[in-house]
Amino acid sequence: MASQFALLLGLLAITCSVAFASDNNPLQDFCVADNSSSVLVNGLVCKDPKLVEANDFLFRGLHLAGNTSNAVGSKVNLVNVEQFPALNTLGISMARVDYAPLGINPPHIHPRATEILTVIEGSLQVGFVTSNPENRFITKLLQKGDVFVFPMGLIHFQRNVGHGNALAISALSSQNPGIITIANAVFGSKPAISSDLLSKAFQADKNIIVRMESQF
Ligand code: GLV
Ligand code: MN
Repeated sequence: MASQFALLLGLLAITCSVAFASDNNPLQDFCVADNSSSVLVNGLVCKDPKLVEANDFLFRGLHLAGNTSNAVGSKVNLVNVEQFPALNTLGISMARVDYAPLGINPPHIHPRATEILTVIEGSLQVGFVTSNPENRFITKLLQKGDVFVFPMGLIHFQRNVGHGNALAISALSSQNPGIITIANAVFGSKPAISSDLLSKAFQADKNIIVRMESQF
């Protein structure tokens, strides 16, 4: 009985550690990253706290619109710990997303963060898909001022469905949320995943796969 209970606890511990990939809690007030350090740790080494000043906690520039002249018609300006060293250990980051008319932020995941998005300008269709086996598609039409949340690790997207440009600001629950754009990762990996394998995975003709791979 005791051994069964221990086994159950062990399985629970494994399940929890797999399911939650959020950042660790800080062990001090702050740990502004020292970008010049060559020491490699999980996160970034702290600058000497005595040398930290107010400007370290300031990031400027998110008023600037991103250039949306590209194939998808959107631009994500992610402010993570790389651009803003004060975020180190704080478990948070943000992004400005600009969309041209009909522009999309294509299906992607953040392996380490939940994302909460606010529409500042325009109207967006947003959506995410739940895990297997349901793969339920949750979608909503958002207007200026609306807030939507994309749970950690799920495939999600946004599409500008208004007539003009659209703008959104997102907060993400990691200093380094990561972005994996599905199409780029699957069809544009280096080296390429074999087209035979992708043909079987997507149940699509190999010529279609080869064409997809040439796009990315
Ligand atoms: C950014 O990653 C976003 O989905 O808005
Ligand atoms: Mn996102």
